[in-house]
Amino acid sequence: MADRESQVGPVSRRAVLGAAGAGLVVGGAVGAFGGYSASDAAEAGDDLTVPFRGDRQAGIVTAAQDRLHFASFDVITDSRDDLIDMLKRWTTAAERMTRGQETVDDGALGLGDYTPPADTGEALGLSPAHLTLTIGFGPGLFGPSLADPNRRDRFGIASRKPAALADLPAFAAEKIEPSRSYGDICIQACADDPQVAVHAIRNLARMGVGVVSVRWSQLGFGRTSATTRNQDTPRNMFGFKDGTANIRAEDTGTLDEHVWVAASDNPPAAQWMTGGTYLVARRIRMDIEPWDRANLLEQENIIGRTKGEGAPLGQTGEFDDPDFQITSGGAPLIPKTSHVRLAHPDQNNGVQILRRGYNFTDGSDGFGHLDAGLFFIAFNRDSFKQFVPMQHQLSRKDAMTEYLIPNASALFAVPPGLKDGEWWGQHLFT
Ligand code: HEM
Repeated sequence: MADRESQVGPVSRRAVLGAAGAGLVVGGAVGAFGGYSASDAAEAGDDLTVPFRGDRQAGIVTAAQDRLHFASFDVITDSRDDLIDMLKRWTTAAERMTRGQETVDDGALGLGDYTPPADTGEALGLSPAHLTLTIGFGPGLFGPSLADPNRRDRFGIASRKPAALADLPAFAAEKIEPSRSYGDICIQACADDPQVAVHAIRNLARMGVGVVSVRWSQLGFGRTSATTRNQDTPRNMFGFKDGTANIRAEDTGTLDEHVWVAASDNPPAAQWMTGGTYLVARRIRMDIEPWDRANLLEQENIIGRTKGEGAPLGQTGEFDDPDFQITSGGAPLIPKTSHVRLAHPDQNNGVQILRRGYNFTDGSDGFGHLDAGLFFIAFNRDSFKQFVPMQHQLSRKDAMTEYLIPNASALFAVPPGLKDGEWWGQHLFT
């Protein structure tokens, strides 16, 4: 079984690109990971596989990959047996795909001329590209939820629902669209090649026909976080470095305190979540055009950091600690309405969250405005003690709110990782 360190450390993209610079990587890996083939990887000696099994699910503290395909499913059957059967089949296929294999051996071409292929084929020849597949269970799987207030306990698991798994409340200044919110099961597919991530979600959806249907899905690019110490800090669609003060895989004590569910968090019936975490997903559209008309000083005051280096205002280095006491002309240099100040642990009873979101641009909105923003993903030990109070504070006071429209929202319970032979959801259903 893989330990936590081995989940942390797939060959980082930077390392791959560094190798490219050293002339070790050929073809599509240079500059753009997409299309980096299995044979290119083999030639370069790259093992682009993140272990599927381990104490934790991969895709949480794993070095954030560049691309995302996130899907939320409604369970459309009332049959517990059918659901369990699909989860078992999903587990096998998911593990295979994270190794760069087809969903079944020779599934794309080998089943004969008169059978629909068991693998859709678009990842044939591509490397695993650090694919991780992370599963989560939404409140609607256990009974009534915002998605369906009349839902009953179809699978006899209501008593196993942890208290921390409930619908997120409404927040100020959001316009939640139910058709792209909520869901019974989520799969987060992250990879350094978008085609690999899309292939994984597409094939799981295809295998789930009759048991689940896709409720909504979201593509993302340009990770907006750094989750390990050796990753550079990327930039979000506002052009600012994002992820500087994030929790990193190496911060094991902080992860235990703020991210991983402890045995003491739940009664015996919900112990299946021990070692797991909760995933918050929020599609936050950005008002790109008004933001682009804001001057640099205003942008920096809204964030509370410089745009170039990403340093806290009043400091010079990206990783300098923010000093909220410095004033200029009698007013705090890091404004009271700035995002960094309001999201900082000092302003949130010491609470922290692990951010792992992605940029998105879904074309334009029919009025000539970019439909772009941040697909915010965060992992935390209890969202109602961490994400929710933080979000309430941000949505009421954060100057950035003027430029944001959160329009999708969901919460999922993400169980711990799988031991050899286990399947997704096994400890919830057995
Ligand atoms: C489109 C929406 C958002 C944008 C553009 C954004 C951008 C940023 C930026 C640029 C930083 C500073 C660099 C860093 O430390 O990562 C930051 C920090 C942070 N953000 Fe956001 N953010 C957004 C939404 C959120 C939301 C919804 C939350 C949680 C409710 C959140 C929580 C945090 C936290 C905890 C920090 C670190 C604060 C610190 O300890 O210094 N952000 N964000």
